[in-house]
Amino acid sequence: MSATVVEVHELGKRFGDFAAVDGVSFDIARGEIFGILGPNGSGKTTTIRMLCGLMEPSSGGATIAGADIAKSPELVKARIGYMSQAFGLYRDLTVDENLEFYAGVYELGAKKAERIAWAKREMRLEEIGGRLAGVLSGGQRQRLALASAMMHAPEVVFLDEPTAGVDPAARRLFWTIIRERAADGVTMIVTTHYMDEAERFDRLVFLSRGKRMALGTPSEVKAQFGAHLSLEDIFVQLQEKES
Ligand SMILES: Nc1ncnc2c1ncn2[C@@H]1O[C@H](COP(=O)(O)OP(=O)(O)OP(=O)(O)O)[C@@H](O)[C@H]1O
Ligand SMILES: [Mg+2]
Repeated sequence: MSATVVEVHELGKRFGDFAAVDGVSFDIARGEIFGILGPNGSGKTTTIRMLCGLMEPSSGGATIAGADIAKSPELVKARIGYMSQAFGLYRDLTVDENLEFYAGVYELGAKKAERIAWAKREMRLEEIGGRLAGVLSGGQRQRLALASAMMHAPEVVFLDEPTAGVDPAARRLFWTIIRERAADGVTMIVTTHYMDEAERFDRLVFLSRGKRMALGTPSEVKAQFGAHLSLEDIFVQLQEKES
């Protein structure tokens, strides 16, 4: 693949005595769809928050699109989009008003109208511009959240469990959109607990108790643990070993 856009080196985060993320390393190439997998509490969100420049690492470091997360968190924030596990939309604003709001936050200036039109087209929101965010379906809400997170044309986008609680058809559309963005050259970093989604990552890292247990393409990870196993088998095995 092409150039490396994310470099993570021995990244760690401690909360008191507890190591939530424990010396994790991996690289991600431009335009990759990269998965962060692991059980509840394994350190996925903590890793993402550090990589987004929102939380200082206790050890190690990372660069995102050339910006160092510890030295230049503001630059990191300008180059990434983040759709958090509890993403914020303004429920009493319409879809259009939410997009206007985020366009304002990112100070898009002259590019504002063009970016809003891009977001509505690419995220399949054109027919629901006037609807209140508070009454959208789960799938529509997720697409609006992704639109908001990508308004400023970031190079790298972090999606923390974007499809949790979304029906199969909406999940499929959401993944079509993720693949389209990756084809545009945007690096998409995604967490999920759905193993059918995990099978479709270009590459993935598997975390358990803050440590890296596996890294590679789905087939490489399977080969590492037993080629006859599914990712779900491996996931369950690793979890049982840890407990
Ligand atoms: N601010 C904090 N203070 C103390 N402990 C924290 C803090 N944030 C996270 N933790 C702990 O760090 C561990 C990793 O949490 P994290 O949210 O990164 O897990 P996760 O892999 O995203 O889990 P999930 O799949 O449930 O979203 C958990 O044990 C959590 O309780
Ligand atoms: Mg999480």
